[in-house]
Formats: sequence, C-alpha cells, structure tokens
Amino acid sequence: MPIELQNILNEEKDGILYVTINRPDKLNALNRKTIEELDSVFTFADQLDTVRAVILTGSGNKAFVAGADISEFSSFTDEEAMNLSLFGQAVFSKIESLRKPVIAAVNGYALGGGCELALACHLRIASQNAVFGLPEVTLGLLPGYGGTQRLPLIIGRGQALEMILTGSPKDSTWALQTGLVNHVTESENLLAKATEIAKVLSTRGPIAMRKAIEATLDPIVDYRLEAKLFGDCFDTADFREGTSAFLEKRKPVFQGK
Ligand code: COA
Repeated sequence: MPIELQNILNEEKDGILYVTINRPDKLNALNRKTIEELDSVFTFADQLDTVRAVILTGSGNKAFVAGADISEFSSFTDEEAMNLSLFGQAVFSKIESLRKPVIAAVNGYALGGGCELALACHLRIASQNAVFGLPEVTLGLLPGYGGTQRLPLIIGRGQALEMILTGSPKDSTWALQTGLVNHVTESENLLAKATEIAKVLSTRGPIAMRKAIEATLDPIVDYRLEAKLFGDCFDTADFREGTSAFLEKRKPVFQGK
C-alpha cells in the first residue's frame, strides 16, 4: 500500500519502491511541502521490510526537479533561509544515509535543488535529454541543499567549481564523462534501466549494502557552513534582484551588493 501524499506518488513493485515527484506544472520544483513529503516517503521506504531498493524520478518528461521553489523563498530573511537550507540538508542526508540503495532516474532538468537531490542518491541514471546545473549564482545565491559538499566528492573540485561558479547547465554526455551520472539511456528506456539495476540490488545482501552505504558516507563535510552562507545571501541586493528577475521573467543585473 502506498502512502497518501499531495506532491509525491509512490508505488511498490517487486521489492522496488518507485517515488515520483509530482508537480509537473512547476517542473517538480521543491516547495517546503514536497520536501516534507520526501522526508515521509523515505521514512516509509526505510521502515517497509519488503522494499529492497528505491527509484526516485520526476513526473513528466521535461524535468526531474527544476530546483527549490523560488516563488516560496523570495521574501525570506537570512535566518529563514538558513533554516530552509538546514531542513533541506537534513532530508537529503536522510536519503543519502538510507539503509537501502536509492537510484535517481533523472528524466530532464535537474537544476539547483534537483541536482542536489540527485547527488544525495546513491546512483544516478540519466535520460539523454537530462540537463544538470547549479544555477543558484544566477539568482545571487549558492547551492544550499548539500551541493557544495557532495558535488566535489562525486566529480572533483575542479569540475564542481565550474558548475557552481558558472551556473551553466551541463548535458548528459558531460555528466557521464565527469562521473556525475553512472549511466545515460534513451528517455523511453530510463525507468527500465533503473529497474534493471534496482533488481540486481534487490538480490544483494541487505545488511551488506546497508553497511557499504554507511562506509561510503561523506568523509569531511560542513553542511552548517553551507547553510549559513546560503542564509547570508538573502541579506544581499543581488539575491533580491536575482529572484525578482526570475519571477518577472527578465535577466538579472547584479551590482555586487
Ligand atoms: N521555482 C519555482 N517555479 C519554477 C521553478 C523553480 N525553481 N522552475 C520552474 N518553475 C515554474 C515556472 O515559473 C513556470 O511556472 P508558470 O507556468 O506558473 O509561469 C513553470 O515552472 C514552467 O517553467 P518555465 O520557466 O516556463 O519553463 P521553460 O521550459 O521555459 O524553462 C527552466 C525551464 C528549467 C530552464 C526554467 O524554468 C528555470 O530556469 N527554472 C529555474 C531553475 C533554477 O534556477 N533553479 C534553482 C533554484 S535555487
């Protein structure tokens, strides 16, 4: 039996829990409610003994997740922003430390918080049309859901800084070359490929996998620093300009203030 949620679909089949973020009209952007529901669904995945692996994807064929919901945080204070960051980090860390493997099936845009969500999963499979990016700098921000900590560990600091500092999107070929994703498939085969891998995982020893996940958790991280710096940005004119420009559908003009 799935759990009833507003913005997330979930269905168990043959020991695999399929979790789908379902706000397609907002490109599955993560508002607070959706992050809370991610927390609930991953608690459910942890508790359900029949679940041996989880596949996380986005609704529709355009986006995995297009980021944190900008409309929701554009009027936040620095303290509210830091708390939002800490909250998102806590939920994403729960996914990363889940005692069962989680595969992100990235079916389109994985931007900002969407890219960070994929980074918190254990494996990433992308469709050919997937687009990865950390565009926070274009809003006068830095990534606040663990991206500054996890991305350098996964693809190395040099490649990570290119993504973080330019904010420019990267295609699936680049993502495969840098090790950001494990596999790239045609869009129509994405879930089949993720399921094939999840099926292999579900035949492996659950305790061994749990311990392997624990053994490979981030070695040196400072998520609190990321959250503090994320909050600091909300005190800047650049952040107000960046978010207003997005919501008003125009290009931002940053003054460095
Ligand atoms: N937060 C809130 N709403 C978002 C969103 C986000 N991160 N990403 C997309 N949306 C909304 C759009 O505002 C739009 O809503 P509307 O129809 O009510 O105006 C809807 O989703 C569709 O997006 P749209 O921009 O019209 O689609 P597009 O195909 O022209 O562009 C993107 C797609 C992903 C390039 C563009 O939506 C985008 O740049 N999104 C923001 C990405 C970002 O900066 N994420 C990091 C946030 S920290």
